[in-house]
Amino acid sequence: MLDKLIRKKGGGAKVEPDDAIIPRHVAIIMDGNGRWAKKRSLPRIAGHHEGMKTVRKITREADRLGIKVLTLYAFSTENWKRPKPEVEFLMRLPEEFLGTYLPELVERNVRVRMIGDHEHLPPHTRRAITRAMEATADNDGLILNFAMNYGSRAEITEAVRSIAQAVAENRMSADDIDESMITGALMTAELPEPDLLIRTSGEVRLSNFMLWQLAYTEFWFTDTLWPDFDESRLQEAIAVYQARNRRYGGVDKEDTD
Ligand code: IPE
Ligand code: IPE
Ligand code: MG
Repeated sequence: MLDKLIRKKGGGAKVEPDDAIIPRHVAIIMDGNGRWAKKRSLPRIAGHHEGMKTVRKITREADRLGIKVLTLYAFSTENWKRPKPEVEFLMRLPEEFLGTYLPELVERNVRVRMIGDHEHLPPHTRRAITRAMEATADNDGLILNFAMNYGSRAEITEAVRSIAQAVAENRMSADDIDESMITGALMTAELPEPDLLIRTSGEVRLSNFMLWQLAYTEFWFTDTLWPDFDESRLQEAIAVYQARNRRYGGVDKEDTD
């Protein structure tokens, strides 16, 4: 099956995704920056800095491939546990990234969005993200969605709280609660569910990422560290995705008796 998806280009075999089934929403747990730096005897923050370049590369490639939403897990609600200088560096990255690349994002018709608890971000971090969201609000191309100070349990907890509040105030009854209501109370309410989840660096866990939204997402894991991740790895992930059979609990037509 994969062979079918491999087109020869310029002599070398290259995995090129089939245009017909490009995932609408790709979510990535960008992991391995620290290990990338350690391998080079550099401080962990050097890995985060290098990882920012991968964000640019992958945003461009996602746009080129026709992906509609790219969600990037940039900082989890648990990442506050890290040493203060590292957290401070990570909180400066949105300013640096957007300060450098915002004009390009605007030009490419990319719309920047954010999920996560932005209220508890340092003001300078919040400002940079808000500015980028405002500057790109009218764009209708790729949605570049940063999960920043994001935790899925916190997100679900908040959704439950808001629904419980509506019931307590008699705005609705508990019997009205259904799956679509919960989906609609999450920070991703306006986004399609991820079709493909990628995690780099060899870790095979979700680390509190989109627990509700990933119910029927295809997963792809790679040992490649985030700063080493590139266009060809993304293409490979998509080609693997395209060879998958998404059944959603059903059976294939040819398998019905
Ligand atoms: C991912 O890289 C970036 C963030 C979590 C902010 P890590 O910093 O987790 O890198 P490793 O896992 O320690 O190599
Ligand atoms: C998950 O990576 C969070 C982000 C990529 C932002 P971590 O490196 O924090 O996850 P664990 O600690 O290995 O589970
Ligand atoms: Mg990590």
